Amino acid sequence: MTETKTAPMMVNAFDPANANGLSAAEQSILERRARMLGSAYRLFYRRPVHFVRGEGVWLYDADGEAYLDVYNNVASVGHCHPHVVAALSRQAATLNTHTRYLDESILNYSERLLTTMPDEIGRVMFTCTGSESNDLAFRIAQTVTGGEGIVVTETAYHGVTNAVSAFSPSLGPGVPLGGHVRTVAPPDHYRFGGNAGAKFAESVGAAFADLKRHGIKPAAIYCDTIFSSDGVFAEPAGFLRDVVEATHAAGALFVADEVQAGFGRTGAGMWGFARHGVVPDIVTTGKPMGNGHPIGGVFAKADIIDAFGRSARYFNTFGGNPVSCEVGMAVLDVIENEKLIDNARDVGGYLKAGLEALATSVPAIGDVRGSGLFIGVELVKPHSDKVPDAELASRIVNDLRDRRILISATGPHANVLKVRPPLVFGKGECDILLGALTELLAG
Ligand SMILES: Cc1ncc(COP(=O)(O)O)c(C=O)c1O
Repeated sequence: MTETKTAPMMVNAFDPANANGLSAAEQSILERRARMLGSAYRLFYRRPVHFVRGEGVWLYDADGEAYLDVYNNVASVGHCHPHVVAALSRQAATLNTHTRYLDESILNYSERLLTTMPDEIGRVMFTCTGSESNDLAFRIAQTVTGGEGIVVTETAYHGVTNAVSAFSPSLGPGVPLGGHVRTVAPPDHYRFGGNAGAKFAESVGAAFADLKRHGIKPAAIYCDTIFSSDGVFAEPAGFLRDVVEATHAAGALFVADEVQAGFGRTGAGMWGFARHGVVPDIVTTGKPMGNGHPIGGVFAKADIIDAFGRSARYFNTFGGNPVSCEVGMAVLDVIENEKLIDNARDVGGYLKAGLEALATSVPAIGDVRGSGLFIGVELVKPHSDKVPDAELASRIVNDLRDRRILISATGPHANVLKVRPPLVFGKGECDILLGALTELLAG
């Protein structure tokens, strides 16, 4: 093993120092990863998992054992969904080019996507990842505002490019924030109570004021509208309204990062921002858009995109190619045909109620929160003043993995269980998770 350090900045990371208990085959894969991929890559879990096949909400390891996926939002409409796979294969066997030729796949897809957006959002540009979407959104915001100041939440994650990692504090102190970046506490209603939204909006206003005091003109705030890396904050719906107002008052743009909350995840419509009744200036998307195929997008008000287009040209070789667009279209078909937004609401509600019921007999469960099929379960030291219990969260995540149930943890203290299954999750699968959690936490 050449990788000797643990992974301090990633929640639920495998520690290579624990490789001894693994099989010879697993150790060989670790050795090849370390030798060829280097030390920046991380694996999940005390004991990593090696999957060879996926179907719906199930992943299968090399021995054919099934694992219940309660974590992956990339294969959002289910692993290897046949309708999506068929669309991909069909278009890949027909033609794949790029946006410098006339093509209708991109237009049909754009038309359909834009009908899911508020009327004010009239344009879409395509990328391949959420990071690229956020990077492009930053360029657009800089062009439109003439500023560069960015506000994000304290443990936000928005991506890996040089520009975006500079406003992704969850990457840890080894990845410095830019001098043009200010962070604000997330709207943590568990700790701040009913005032959390107002306090959040106030902090955003103060952060923009601080940028100005330092001679930095504001460009944008980026909000992951479910605050996934900050610990999952969804309630009360509507609290983003004051944030948008504070942002506009500062002359900046409101960017809704929908990489996590978008495409029906919250069970309250297609988009996380819509749940809050706000119209963003820019919306960025990624992961769930292609159910595993790399496609992302930047949506914005027409005047914003047009102002950018007057000063820059845009060509992204793979962004918006016909195969990606047919895949994206098929994902939208599945969301619609299988009523996955309703499913996220109903099954998510069932799961949340089950977790809340469990919380009544488990003092370590401090809070159960979220919307639709994105639920956070905050674990705290029992009978303490909400002291985070990261050790317990890590134990539960890994004990569940040993029972072949996949979740992870999130938040600044890594003490919030992150429950975020594919949207085709059912009540029977909720019962499997609830049964295991009951045994582990209340047993
Ligand atoms: C909120 C959010 N924004 C952006 C990204 C970056 O997306 P990608 O990994 O596709 O670049 C992520 C990835 O986890 C994310 O969670």
